[in-house]
Amino acid sequence: MTSSDLLAGIPRPFLAPRQVLVGDGAAAEAGTALAAWSVPAGAVGVIADSAVAEFGIAEPLLQGLEAAGYRTHLFALPVGEPTLAAAQDALDFLRSMGPKAVVGIGGGSAMDVAKIAALAATTDKPVADFLGIDPEAEPGLPLVLVPTTSGTGAEVTRISMLADEQGRKVICSHPLLVPLLAVLDPELVVGLPPAVTAATGMDAMAHAVEAFLSRNRSPLSAQASLQAIRLLREWLPRAVARGSDMDARRATLYGAHQAGLALNAGVILGHSLAYTIANRKHLPHGVTCAIALPYCVAYNAGSELPGADDLALAITEGRSDSLDDAAVELRQLAERLGLPTSLADIGIPADEAREMAQECIHRYPRPANPRPFALDALTDLVAAMACGELPGSGLPGLQKNEGVNA
Ligand SMILES: NC(=O)c1ccc[n+]([C@@H]2O[C@H](COP(=O)([O-])OP(=O)(O)OC[C@H]3O[C@@H](n4cnc5c(N)ncnc54)[C@H](O)[C@@H]3O)[C@@H](O)[C@H]2O)c1
Ligand SMILES: [Fe+2]
Repeated sequence: MTSSDLLAGIPRPFLAPRQVLVGDGAAAEAGTALAAWSVPAGAVGVIADSAVAEFGIAEPLLQGLEAAGYRTHLFALPVGEPTLAAAQDALDFLRSMGPKAVVGIGGGSAMDVAKIAALAATTDKPVADFLGIDPEAEPGLPLVLVPTTSGTGAEVTRISMLADEQGRKVICSHPLLVPLLAVLDPELVVGLPPAVTAATGMDAMAHAVEAFLSRNRSPLSAQASLQAIRLLREWLPRAVARGSDMDARRATLYGAHQAGLALNAGVILGHSLAYTIANRKHLPHGVTCAIALPYCVAYNAGSELPGADDLALAITEGRSDSLDDAAVELRQLAERLGLPTSLADIGIPADEAREMAQECIHRYPRPANPRPFALDALTDLVAAMACGELPGSGLPGLQKNEGVNA
């Protein structure tokens, strides 16, 4: 049951793709769908993750586009972080071939490059001119996004994250980055290795939970959060333990997508903590999110938050309406997935706590976090995260230290 608290609130926008193709084999239908949106036959620029291109994961998509009358031109992204330079190369590639549409296929890295390149492609400006919140922009090329990881929800959001020359994350946030078409094809994620499945799945979980806690929550983002949490909570351990389990692959892909929709409300303290961890240890984004998320929930547990019981019940699968218990449950989930759960696990000492708290406040402030950022309280929180201590006591019936194969 959903409490009426979740239906109240001030007016807020909620963005989503114009069409979502969903189901096994959906990628092969993208060409037909694009034509149905009156995108004329001609060249299409496909920005693809290099592993996805190499393993032939993009083949059904490419064949479907060709069958619908499009000539596909593939740009395989360099391995590693999506950089401003790589996005500029992708943009130059698009301009050299004059495409009718742009398709991004891969994880968040490839989709983020495709997004900003498609936006810039109808202008003569460089990618760097599109950084920031709501940069001046006009509609870009029609955009199709096809995730091959179950995590970022980038196929939904108004965000593109890139790395600058110093390796710092820079953002472009604009409503025009939301695509015309998103394609959720579980067959594309079936080969995702367990470690990537675990990390990207916990990134999605962090999006859903933090968006729910955000003061920018809306009735629609709240429902998307709860749906995402239920799907990921139940199915992520199975997707990690047995990648060929199609039910688990479907549930986690659709859960990550719902979490992307929830991101209309944005993220809060958990992602601030995750970035401060990433600044000290180069780890996948989802791993840092998994460590930080229980502490984000614990920090906000005492604040006045309508619907907190709905959130706790979703996370604990109906066993508790307490956010402290939910925080413990999230840490146990990360443990089951084989992810680190404390700063000690990844070699960050407790004496970094004050500096990390300051970094959260100054570099990654979150006005929408329910409990304001306070230096002493955040220092204590990071110190607790260093040794893996949470305030909650845990719930009867939860199986601590249960391995995913157990
Ligand atoms: N735009 C947004 O709203 C948004 C939200 C969150 C994160 N992000 C960004 O997304 C990026 C992370 O994206 P990600 O977590 O999806 O990882 P990723 O795109 O970097 O991919 C992770 C790894 O998985 C491989 N891979 C991808 N699909 C595969 C498949 N089907 N089979 C085998 N290997 C596969 C890739 O080659 C890569 O090595 C970061 O740059 C982050 O900042 C963006
Ligand atoms: Fe994230």
